[in-house]
Amino acid sequence: MTLIKVQSVMSNELSKRVILSRPPEPPQEYLLNDPTNSVFIGITKLFSVPFTWTFANLTNPHIAVVGITGAGKSFFVKTFLTRASYVWNTNAIIIDWAGEYRAWVKQSGGTVVGLGKGDFLNIMDLSSMKPIDRTKQIMTSFEILTDISEYPEQKRLTEEAIEQAYVNFGFNAAEIPDIRKQAPTLKDVIALLQEKLQEGTYQYPAELENAVYRLRQFAREGEDFFARKSTIDLDRIASSGLVDIDLSGLPDEKFRALAALFMLQTLKEKMRTEGWSPSKGLKALVVLDEAWKVASDDRSDAVMIVREGRKYQFGLIVASQNPTDINEAIFSNVGTTVMLRIRFEKFLDYMQGSLNFSNFMRSEIAKFGVGQAAVDMSFQTNVQFPSVFLIERIVGEIPLNVYTINVSEILSQRELTDPSILKEYYMEKLDMNSKMIESNISPETIEKIFNEMDSRGRMLDIRALVQIMITESVSKDAVIEFLRILGLSDALITRTFLYSEQQ
Ligand SMILES: Nc1ncnc2c1ncn2[C@@H]1O[C@H](COP(=O)(O)OP(=O)(O)OP(=O)(O)O)[C@@H](O)[C@H]1O
Ligand SMILES: [Mg+2]
Repeated sequence: MTLIKVQSVMSNELSKRVILSRPPEPPQEYLLNDPTNSVFIGITKLFSVPFTWTFANLTNPHIAVVGITGAGKSFFVKTFLTRASYVWNTNAIIIDWAGEYRAWVKQSGGTVVGLGKGDFLNIMDLSSMKPIDRTKQIMTSFEILTDISEYPEQKRLTEEAIEQAYVNFGFNAAEIPDIRKQAPTLKDVIALLQEKLQEGTYQYPAELENAVYRLRQFAREGEDFFARKSTIDLDRIASSGLVDIDLSGLPDEKFRALAALFMLQTLKEKMRTEGWSPSKGLKALVVLDEAWKVASDDRSDAVMIVREGRKYQFGLIVASQNPTDINEAIFSNVGTTVMLRIRFEKFLDYMQGSLNFSNFMRSEIAKFGVGQAAVDMSFQTNVQFPSVFLIERIVGEIPLNVYTINVSEILSQRELTDPSILKEYYMEKLDMNSKMIESNISPETIEKIFNEMDSRGRMLDIRALVQIMITESVSKDAVIEFLRILGLSDALITRTFLYSEQQ
């Protein structure tokens, strides 16, 4: 704290001196960029420099975001996408594992594709790809998600049937198709394999049966999310503004991963066919939030997008609670790493080992409040300063339907003037609602709380909030749980109770 006060008086002096030791922050020219060609993130902690992000001098535009639950990963992503769209007209495609972005995308006027909630993706859609290339991609997804690679004969049969289905639908396997032509679905592939089985001339019927069985799990009535005509125009997916692919309605991880892999394959292809254009900034950002299976497999196209993205102005943002779930090839190649609060020692070890920051930095990261961050940037040229620096707080784009919980009444004078301590917690209605449900607060109480907040400009003091909960006989455990999920420290939770009782 004292450091911040000192620097406002003599930051010139300080910046001269730090050359002798290890300077704690990259010099201004690396942090403060042309606002019409960069994205504002927040103010740096030490020298209070507005940090605006550009990938012009970074190794690549990709970003990894790590931090514990509630640390502010999704908040960062939303803020970043909003500003990138504003500055560069950047399109965004969110592969949304838990449906976290759905409400926000809707409010922002974007497109939501709810798989398992009425929307479908035909994984055989070509969107300008040659059938043989799409066939290979589909097979790769099956290799990642099923045991097909252990059965070469079944693999061969499946691949052959997929290609045959395209031919039967009038496609030429090695030609770029007419995009108006309707693609077959997995159901057509299964029908071909079954026909072959019924003919009875094939030598190993058990292999055929197993191949059918494996495919059928993705084509069963009611679970045929990937075996029907697509409800989105995949050909325009990378140029449609903000798109949320909400996977939370799918029955399990395997389905979610298949959708994610398919989207990445399609996006990689779009990236390559669209090629480079002389526009500044990023054309598209692909977001993978908690998609560990997809972010961790070498064969996933997330890795290809990371390798080739820079030259096509395509960026990948991977967000995860667990940094070790992110593939090495991705993690060691991102140009920017945003570290929010990380609690587990083994994750801190991993981050410190990869990014090589000081123990001071490590202890700061372990005690961050919501939205506080350390950023690592990997520059194209050799630099003489440590690449990890602290951000006071990610300064967010406030969402439209936002509710505010004010905590300033329980803060001390010192805390009130400390810019790193949150005075207000912003939440979208849906987000706050699900946090209360998660804490076992009853729907009636939740409704009372929202009514109360609505009558006060969607804002409530934390003590008043806790009062309502107590009056509605919410258990103390549930209240504590909710305050924790909100991101309050244990000390502040204790204080909230103390002050509420005094009221
Ligand atoms: N920089 C910030 N300023 C103000 N509020 C924030 C900030 N960052 C996060 N929040 C609020 O804190 C809550 C948790 O943030 P968020 O949902 O982004 O966490 P997360 O890291 O994505 O968690 P999870 O891993 O559970 O998805 C949200 O209600 C969000 O609005
Ligand atoms: Mg999140």
